[in-house]
Amino acid sequence: MAQSQKGLEDLLEHGLKDMYYAENAILKALPKMIEGATDKELRNGLEKHREQTEGQIRDLEKCFKAMDKKAEGEKCEAIEGILKEGDSLLKDFGGTPAGDAAIIFSSQAVEHYEIARYGSLRTYADLLGMDDVSDLLNGILEQEIAADEILSELAEDHVNEDALADDDEDA
Ligand SMILES: [Fe+2]
Repeated sequence: MAQSQKGLEDLLEHGLKDMYYAENAILKALPKMIEGATDKELRNGLEKHREQTEGQIRDLEKCFKAMDKKAEGEKCEAIEGILKEGDSLLKDFGGTPAGDAAIIFSSQAVEHYEIARYGSLRTYADLLGMDDVSDLLNGILEQEIAADEILSELAEDHVNEDALADDDEDA
């Protein structure tokens, strides 16, 4: 078999296309999650992240531009799967305190996926000496880490307990 000529810069480009697709899919999925959340703080947190996601899409476009590439997405099966699972959980649990816990459950899977990908991509950009791209990806990465922390705080502060209390009432 012939050796592929593809290198780290190609992998970076592929990853950016993957995340461009993922962010657009997340942006499309968020309104339904916001609507399905009963907890006010969770709704506000998701709304804030929706706005951040719009900015992240613009930042990814800046990355493509810095690399002299066209901004385009490439279907990301991983995010499709995570969002699909989130959607079915929303249908099963939506509108209940356990539904809020389920929204955090699926949102954190999204965030951890994003954190993994942006961490790798930032490292590639660093190695390739693409400082502008690295800074942009680092900015997105920091937002994802903060969003994940807010979700953990909400779950630990009251969302999980509320779901548990609702279980006890039903019992
Ligand atoms: Fe994102």
